[in-house]
Amino acid sequence: MRLIVAFVSTLLAAFWEPVKYTWRHLLIWLQKMITAADIKFALKHKQTLFALQRVALPGLKDIPGPVALPIFGTRWIYNKYFGRYTITKIHEAYQSMFKEYGQVIKEEAFFNYPVISTCSAQDIEKLIKFPSKFPLRPPNGIVSKYRQNTPGRYNDGGLTNEQGKAWHRLRESTTHDMVNTRVIQNLIADVNDMAIDYIAGINKLRDPDTGRVQDIIELNRKLGFESTCLLGLGCRVGFLEDELNPRVKRLSQATNCLFEALNEANYNLPLWRYFPNSTYKKLAKAEEDLYELACEYLEPALQRIEESYEPEAAQTVLIGILKRSDLDDKDKKSSIVDFVSSGMNTIGNTLSLLLYLIAKNPDAQTKLYEEINNLLEPDEPISAKYLNSARYLKACVQEYFRILPTAPQIARIVESEMVLSGYQVPEWVSIV
Ligand code: HEM
Repeated sequence: MRLIVAFVSTLLAAFWEPVKYTWRHLLIWLQKMITAADIKFALKHKQTLFALQRVALPGLKDIPGPVALPIFGTRWIYNKYFGRYTITKIHEAYQSMFKEYGQVIKEEAFFNYPVISTCSAQDIEKLIKFPSKFPLRPPNGIVSKYRQNTPGRYNDGGLTNEQGKAWHRLRESTTHDMVNTRVIQNLIADVNDMAIDYIAGINKLRDPDTGRVQDIIELNRKLGFESTCLLGLGCRVGFLEDELNPRVKRLSQATNCLFEALNEANYNLPLWRYFPNSTYKKLAKAEEDLYELACEYLEPALQRIEESYEPEAAQTVLIGILKRSDLDDKDKKSSIVDFVSSGMNTIGNTLSLLLYLIAKNPDAQTKLYEEINNLLEPDEPISAKYLNSARYLKACVQEYFRILPTAPQIARIVESEMVLSGYQVPEWVSIV
């Protein structure tokens, strides 16, 4: 049905403005239209059905990038047999492309849909500071599709995929407590316990002769998982225990599968749009597992709230969301799933790279050690007061984010025509 609607509307559009159309624009537009998420997206923002005609305004076609094949675009560069890059090393691909083509490059997704990447600080500032009440982020197509196919569990694409007012509503209602210092303070005792378990984990990894730790990444990953669950689910789940319990194992596997599927969906041919291929099945299984596991942690908390057992002092991000009267159960559960899946990998990676930079910089290491010794007695637990006073530690974290940002990409859809590094980019194009 969607396909027929898309064809008919495309033909109608072509009759109205025949001069501006080329086969390529028709294909681009068709591709956008056949995903229900995108139709919803377009309607929500009152974009006219002709918005994509402007995709080929002067400037876009001149942006350099890998050779694009008809229909298949530039995705061949990640093909494991004849491509130039691997999808598990995207950072190397972009480093190489920016070196070869300059600071703005154009890739083309399936059906030659253009995706522009820029590494220019001025461009990035222009995009991020664009005065918009509801910044447009390209939705994650495969997740939106899965959630549309699962209406019993999801009202919409959720916090990470929705746009406009629907996104704003979820964002306002769910992220409030994440930046609330009182809520964070409620977690400090658990954070201390986590730190103790983490140090015990490091000691177990030490070589008994040299005292050196060969590889700390896996342990950091576990700490990242544990702290995200603490923030999102409000309790310790056991990632730092010697033997992972089956629930935690499933949570870890589900998160890994989710990220693998998202990567495949982004960089391989998007066949999942047309039938449930292996990538779609992998994603569906991961989302299903994450949802079920999140529910296992949520149900008892919901019960406590209903029975008014939850004291104000025990407020956590989870309880804050569960108590919201403006969200229904589906919104609450999907937001928690989004929180947990978004935070899982970022914190562990941040810790690994931060420790790497500190290890490479002995002066910073000494200063940090002195700051900790000045602010805390040996074995004294971390407190909110300590965290507020640890200025050098905070500076190290900020400097780390400047030098090696954990999230290598932020994406936006251009809301009105703008010039990026000398190229005129029409509205509606995705910029990474
Ligand atoms: C050091 C750790 C983290 C880094 C570097 C990081 C980075 C990012 C970035 C770059 C974005 C996209 C922002 C944008 O498009 O403007 C984002 C979005 C998001 N992050 Fe994180 N994040 C981290 C930790 C977490 C944690 C711990 C959670 C949850 C417990 C979380 C939940 C989310 C959510 C839900 C979004 C989507 C927000 C929206 O679309 O409105 N993140 N994060």
